[in-house]
Amino acid sequence: MKLRIENLSFSYEDRPILDRLCLDVKDGEFVSLLGPSGCGKSTVLKLLTGILTPRSGTILVDGQAINGVSERFAYMPQNDLLFPWKTILDNVCLYGQIHGSLREIKSKALAWFPLFGLEGYEHAYPSSLSGGMRQRAAFLRTALCRADILLLDEPFGALDVITRGEMQDWLLRMREQMKKTVLLVTHDMDEAIYLSDRILILNPPPDGLSAGLPVLAAGRNREWLYSQSALRGEIYSQIRRTQTAAAAKGDTSCPL
Ligand SMILES: Nc1ncnc2c1ncn2[C@@H]1O[C@H](COP(=O)(O)OP(=O)(O)OP(=O)(O)O)[C@@H](O)[C@H]1O
Ligand SMILES: [Mg+2]
Repeated sequence: MKLRIENLSFSYEDRPILDRLCLDVKDGEFVSLLGPSGCGKSTVLKLLTGILTPRSGTILVDGQAINGVSERFAYMPQNDLLFPWKTILDNVCLYGQIHGSLREIKSKALAWFPLFGLEGYEHAYPSSLSGGMRQRAAFLRTALCRADILLLDEPFGALDVITRGEMQDWLLRMREQMKKTVLLVTHDMDEAIYLSDRILILNPPPDGLSAGLPVLAAGRNREWLYSQSALRGEIYSQIRRTQTAAAAKGDTSCPL
């Protein structure tokens, strides 16, 4: 599914967060969104899901305008939002329950529990899981959703470095199989390079969204990733530039 955002503006009360943001994501494309903390990355995803309402602008999926909450998106918020009264299995099968495909989703979920390091916790409640396990459960729930566009807000942010690497490897393999369009918010430059077709840097107004940095990968693997120092440098300098400009104006609300 193709996603288009046209002139999206949003303010919290009188504080502008997004000003005429435009973005195109192609069908099946994997795009990462980076930027300093507080620049509005999560806000973009919340506007797409309909949790927040834009002041102006249009969101289009395959040319159709989306208003309010839509089934086109599977959303993984920055906090895991697991229901404490449901077991992990029931939590990850939530979309199956909503869409009436519970049996099919349940068998797929059970097959994926070991991969997500959740085997043996199918009938446990979220309160008995570690932060990383909860995040993996939330990610599994999103991956099991039928929606064609995945919106992932720092899905691996709370994971230790080894597990994070494993989940990135898994997502890289799944990318090809899932054939989903993905918009990933992350602070991790290597994660963005490893997984994406294109990287965008969001700056606070008035700068807005940068022109995208394409990731040219013939075959992705960790060795290839470690050789991407030029791209890493470019991402870093685009984020630093925003910070330097903000600091020059005396605004320290956007630490990296
Ligand atoms: N409910 C709210 N009410 C008022 N201001 C808010 C609210 N939620 C977020 N903000 C402000 O809007 C700005 C953008 O927030 P957002 O969560 O989109 O940032 P972000 O880029 O995702 O940051 P991070 O990388 O830290 O997650 C921040 O400056 C934040 O303080
Ligand atoms: Mg955020």
